[in-house]
Amino acid sequence: MKYLNNSSLIQKYNIPGPRYTSYPTVPFWNKEGIKKEDWLETIKHSFNESNTEEGISLYLHMPYCENLCTFCACHKHITKRHSVEDEYIDTLLKEWKLYIDILEEKPSLREIHLGGGTPTFFSSENLKRLINGLFEHATRYEVYDFSFEAHPNDTTKEQLQTLFDLGFKRTSFGIQDYDPVVQQAINRIQPYENVKRVNDWAREIGYESISHDIIFGLPHQTKESIVNTIEQTVKQRPDRIAYYSYAHVPWIKGVGQRGFDENDLPKDEYKRELYELGKKLFFEAGYEEIGMDHFALPTDKMHKAMVEKKLHRNFMGYTAGKTKLMIGLGMSSISDSWYSFAQNEKRVEDYVNRVNAGELPIFRGHLLTEEDLIVRQHILNLMCNLETSWEEASMKLSNIDEILERLKEMNEDGLIEIYENKLVVKESSRMFVRNVCMAFDLHLAKSMPQSRIFSMTI
Ligand SMILES: C[S@@+](CC[C@H](N)C(=O)[O-])C[C@H]1O[C@@H](n2cnc3c(N)ncnc32)[C@H](O)[C@@H]1O
Ligand code: SF4
Repeated sequence: MKYLNNSSLIQKYNIPGPRYTSYPTVPFWNKEGIKKEDWLETIKHSFNESNTEEGISLYLHMPYCENLCTFCACHKHITKRHSVEDEYIDTLLKEWKLYIDILEEKPSLREIHLGGGTPTFFSSENLKRLINGLFEHATRYEVYDFSFEAHPNDTTKEQLQTLFDLGFKRTSFGIQDYDPVVQQAINRIQPYENVKRVNDWAREIGYESISHDIIFGLPHQTKESIVNTIEQTVKQRPDRIAYYSYAHVPWIKGVGQRGFDENDLPKDEYKRELYELGKKLFFEAGYEEIGMDHFALPTDKMHKAMVEKKLHRNFMGYTAGKTKLMIGLGMSSISDSWYSFAQNEKRVEDYVNRVNAGELPIFRGHLLTEEDLIVRQHILNLMCNLETSWEEASMKLSNIDEILERLKEMNEDGLIEIYENKLVVKESSRMFVRNVCMAFDLHLAKSMPQSRIFSMTI
């Protein structure tokens, strides 16, 4: 058999595809949404099954940012008016109370993640009011993992200390790139000193895990600039590094991807070389690769989770732990009861108005079928462990032959190994894992979207 070279493989497999932070992926959720009764029944069921045994997770979306970074695909609201903070915190706490009234005992919080937008847009007092407000109705699970995203330009030592005192031991800083030309193009001027300052404070305070987000594939990035960005990163020894592929999704309303055009972006193969170069430098610096886009020091919890095959993936990306129930609070947040998904209103005003009217502010959702649940587990296995098996009765799918047929070419191209009841993605083909998952995606197989809704897989 003659295998294609790397560059031909990239050309062949670099197609639009989901990032599989959920299955079914959001565009394939039920068009009619989820009935309120179904949502309530599934969260109650999931809560009763898991609250005592493993605890539950909370994701809180903190949407505000002071400035627009023009590469950003997150749900955010740009404002310099900090007077918006109070009402938003009040609304999050009211939404939490709506859930408390539904659940039959006190939630035991195992994971809390503050994501954004920019959680550090909020003052220390407001962050404290929020976390203390949550615990008025909840207890802390015996082992817990509380984390937040922080913007190096606006994070103060006081905020880091306040969150640490409230139990947050993990933080991630958005770096993206240190090159001035790239920073100019993405409208994010953030000198090395700003990052070093917050990184040093976090270490001094005692944070157990610090992560840095870096993106490859940004406008004007070159091999020289990425080498420099990575050198600046590894010398600060973050415990984890998210090395994201730039998702260029200008067709999604409101992302604001501008300030550069497609010609300024590194082309497919060059982009992949930036990834390979980064990977080599991270390895040389002692980091190991986790899942699809993360690197971690062997001392970090995420590395341990990978070794023990306990890595999980949800709307936040890879996580070291899994709870059956994750309640998402805040504008655009997605909740996951394992049996169903629900997403909140995507505009702050709509979110606030609905919560103030005493309603759960959900605007779409999906009730998973038996088949969805099995496929979801296969996709999780592939994304987290690069292998899956249908040996056990609970993992069998009636359409496995059809799935294997879709994988035939990838098998012939030497990317995967197929055994009688098992499939393994070769370590060297890690970059194609999204393509392998697409073969299992039964919703995608039924109706491939006509317009662009996904970023490129590689
Ligand atoms: C909510 S932001 C991080 C917190 C804070 N707002 C900041 O910018 O520092 C989450 C991360 O998503 C990543 N991100 C945002 N838009 C992206 C895109 N279009 N492609 C790839 N990664 C992206 C960035 O690495 C960013 O740090
Ligand atoms: S990258 Fe962070 S700070 Fe910039 S717009 Fe996105 S969420 Fe806001």
